[in-house]
Amino acid sequence: MKFFKKLIPFLCVLLLLPGALNACSIQKKDTIKTIRIGVSVYRKDDTFIASLSSYLEEDAKKREQHTGDKIILNIMDSQSSQSLQNDQVDGFLSKNYDAVCVNMVDRTAAATIVDKAKKADTPLIFFNREPVEEDIQMWGKAYYVGADAAQSGTLQGQIIARAYKKDPRSIDRNGDGKIQYVMLEGEQGHQDSLLRTEYSVKAVEESGVHTEMLANDTANWQRAQATAKMKQWITRYGGRIEAVLCNNDDMALGAIDAIRESGWRASRPVVVGVDGTAPGLDAIKNGTMLGSAYNNAKTQAEVIFGLCCDPAGTSKSFPLQRGHFIYIPYQMITRENAGKFG
Ligand code: GAL
Ligand code: CA
Repeated sequence: MKFFKKLIPFLCVLLLLPGALNACSIQKKDTIKTIRIGVSVYRKDDTFIASLSSYLEEDAKKREQHTGDKIILNIMDSQSSQSLQNDQVDGFLSKNYDAVCVNMVDRTAAATIVDKAKKADTPLIFFNREPVEEDIQMWGKAYYVGADAAQSGTLQGQIIARAYKKDPRSIDRNGDGKIQYVMLEGEQGHQDSLLRTEYSVKAVEESGVHTEMLANDTANWQRAQATAKMKQWITRYGGRIEAVLCNNDDMALGAIDAIRESGWRASRPVVVGVDGTAPGLDAIKNGTMLGSAYNNAKTQAEVIFGLCCDPAGTSKSFPLQRGHFIYIPYQMITRENAGKFG
């Protein structure tokens, strides 16, 4: 009997052990959070969007490593179709994703998506293609992360103005005191196309340098379309073109392809872009592109990802404007500082 009494505490421990183990495993399960993020982009083959998407993937991996959380990041391609994008968003919401990020195909069609996210009580982060303010204002957990399009245009204009001030004849080849230019625009209706087009020329003029537009047209952000357009303009205007202003780097590279193919070496026009993509930076370093405005995909992705994981915790460095909007500043890129961007 005495021996049995001594055994009692051990028996108790044995009896309690499975419960204790169970509690422990439940506790462990509870601490591993699974965060499901759905992303729908207007086109996966867009150079800037592809780079922003890969930064989002990097951010997800980093968070998994640092916190042990499991991140499911589902990035889908809308292939320039708004109805396909709406279906993708419906899919994320019906599967109760924790956050949905949308790079609108048609930025004027955001209201339907905002309404659905609000009904599902799901945080919604728009990026790169800016919806109108009243659509975003409909839902307290709707945000926009992007950049101030006008600033990128101003920086492009300043790059040209600086080069002109340093050596007017390096741009004004015919010496008439004006810069004859052609403008390659992004998609029509995109805030970046409208504002970069306007503010780039404004900045040149404001610096006291006169301009004369020879031609402008859209090449929808795309390199091949820009080459085709530029070839037509080279045939039409030849050596009269002194500057090529492009709403993004891909189109600037397309224009450079056309200039190269035409065998036009002496008195080449200067070319400026926006984005600072890897091939864009190479062109600035080798002198075929005069400069660009750095569209900070890395920081934009960090801010988007941060909002997905913690919709209430917006960053101090990039405060919310008008309650919903976060703009990451552009930076001027020229040959002198191109190395610091990659
Ligand atoms: C712009 C960018 C372009 C293109 C476009 C897509 O901000 O400069 O290269 O990616 O967004 O919406
Ligand atoms: Ca001139």
